[in-house]
Amino acid sequence: VPRPLLKIDANEGRLPDEALLERLRTIEPEMLRRYPTTQALEARLASRFALDASQVIVTAGADDALDRICRATLEPGRQAVVTDPTFVMIPRYVRLAGAELVSVGWLDRPFPIAELVEAVHPSVGAAFVASPNNPTGLVARSRDLTRLAETAPTMLLAVDLAYVEFADENPMRELLELPNVVITRTFSKAWGLAGLRIGYALGAPAVITWLRAVGHPYPTSAVSLALAGAALDAHSAITDAYIERVRRERSELFDLFRELGIEAGASQGNFVLARFSDAWAMADALLSKGIAVRRFERPGGLADRLRITCPGNDDDFQRLRETLVGIAARGGITR
Ligand SMILES: Cc1ncc(COP(=O)(O)O)c(C=O)c1O
Repeated sequence: VPRPLLKIDANEGRLPDEALLERLRTIEPEMLRRYPTTQALEARLASRFALDASQVIVTAGADDALDRICRATLEPGRQAVVTDPTFVMIPRYVRLAGAELVSVGWLDRPFPIAELVEAVHPSVGAAFVASPNNPTGLVARSRDLTRLAETAPTMLLAVDLAYVEFADENPMRELLELPNVVITRTFSKAWGLAGLRIGYALGAPAVITWLRAVGHPYPTSAVSLALAGAALDAHSAITDAYIERVRRERSELFDLFRELGIEAGASQGNFVLARFSDAWAMADALLSKGIAVRRFERPGGLADRLRITCPGNDDDFQRLRETLVGIAARGGITR
């Protein structure tokens, strides 16, 4: 019997637990009849982070928050500073807003703070740093992010913390002290709820007001809002256990790659980025065993890498491990 596809190409999380599915079964009809309001979830998030509700906006995934940041700060004739590589949608939203990209390389090296500071000019409306970054898993220090924000008080610095739950440190507190920093976060990764499309942005009340003004009034569904609220209330412990599990898998994957002679960079996300002599052949070999991983455009700076999401459970992790070892035993996958 062929095994089901192991889909570890999109950094998604675990399956929802029974209790959350139970909440889905008890959705009130009235909730479906009415336009949804994000207020209740915003209030819950505000109290979770000891913020005022005016500092929180719930969006249709972090995607929607990033898009709104672009629409609020950019226009033709302005620029956005981004790292390269970064989460693919960031440059896309920048271009959709009509602005120009100023890219600073951040691959196989420490956070390029000096170059980022250098790239900031009066016509730069926003800078974007995902930390941990996707697809590398690299992180920026809070001190460097603060410095970047302070360099240009008229620019908005968006710090995308989509994967922060998996990282060693969370710079959110310090960053929220600054008036020109906005944080984006999501229920799609550590909470395992990408299908709900719930993300949020945190920042100064004035910034949150702009983000509200440039988006749809009802960006996400009432069912999604209810489930995300229920997850926050009752599932923090399950989420914490899952995060621990992913961190263990990540370090085991590093060890395995080292044993197999495969180069992999340090990642603080729920994934690792590894380098292969023929990454596409490796991805095909994995796919032939029912395992889908993320490959990158050829030619391109990441064409020799694959991003592999930690499966987050024992069976799937063993399957991934055995498959990698099996392919390696046949030779030709290392650099
Ligand atoms: C760095 C980063 N930010 C944001 C997102 C988008 O998340 P969401 O599902 O909340 O839109 C992703 C999704 O892959 C991501 O990798």
